[in-house]
Amino acid sequence: MAARVLPFLLSALLLAACTDNANIPGVTQDPEASAKAAYPDVPPAEEANELIDRGQKLFKGLTCEQCHSTGPDRSGLAGPPLGGYADRALEHQDHDPLKARRWTVKHIKDPRKYPGSFAGTDEYRGTFMTPFNRITDDDLRALVEYLFSLR
Ligand code: HEC
Repeated sequence: MAARVLPFLLSALLLAACTDNANIPGVTQDPEASAKAAYPDVPPAEEANELIDRGQKLFKGLTCEQCHSTGPDRSGLAGPPLGGYADRALEHQDHDPLKARRWTVKHIKDPRKYPGSFAGTDEYRGTFMTPFNRITDDDLRALVEYLFSLR
């Protein structure tokens, strides 16, 4: 009996471990709380430079570039080009640099609840971004700083 139940128990545990983000150190599950943890402040220039380097690597490692170009052209990809992203995010968020960064964190974690500027336009109708809710708050700070550096 135990031998027959054990595999099911183990796979259930494994599944729980994979879906429960609360158990990943450094990951704040709630998007609102995560945005505040990642961004207590706008990073000063010196810190920003380090974050941008790290964020660029994360952008590649997290497969963002499979759907986004980092220049002005879409280049046939599923998501909008991210060149000039900072201007759009600021426009969307009362020109407040902290608010725009926090909003971007929330978008990455839950894109349906916090859709970007292009969501629902003809070009992107019915397309949603995949939620990324397993990135640590530290890494989100780096990733978003990189997005804000794209021209
Ligand atoms: C499966 C394709 C896909 C992947 C992978 C993806 N995105 Fe997106 N992304 C989209 C789509 C589609 C949109 C447009 C809909 C929206 O804004 O909600 C979008 C929108 C965005 C926006 C808003 C752009 C704007 O100008 O408003 C940002 C920022 C963004 N993605 C960042 C990222 C980051 C960072 C990653 C990696 C962690 C990523 N995306 C991974 C498809 C994707």
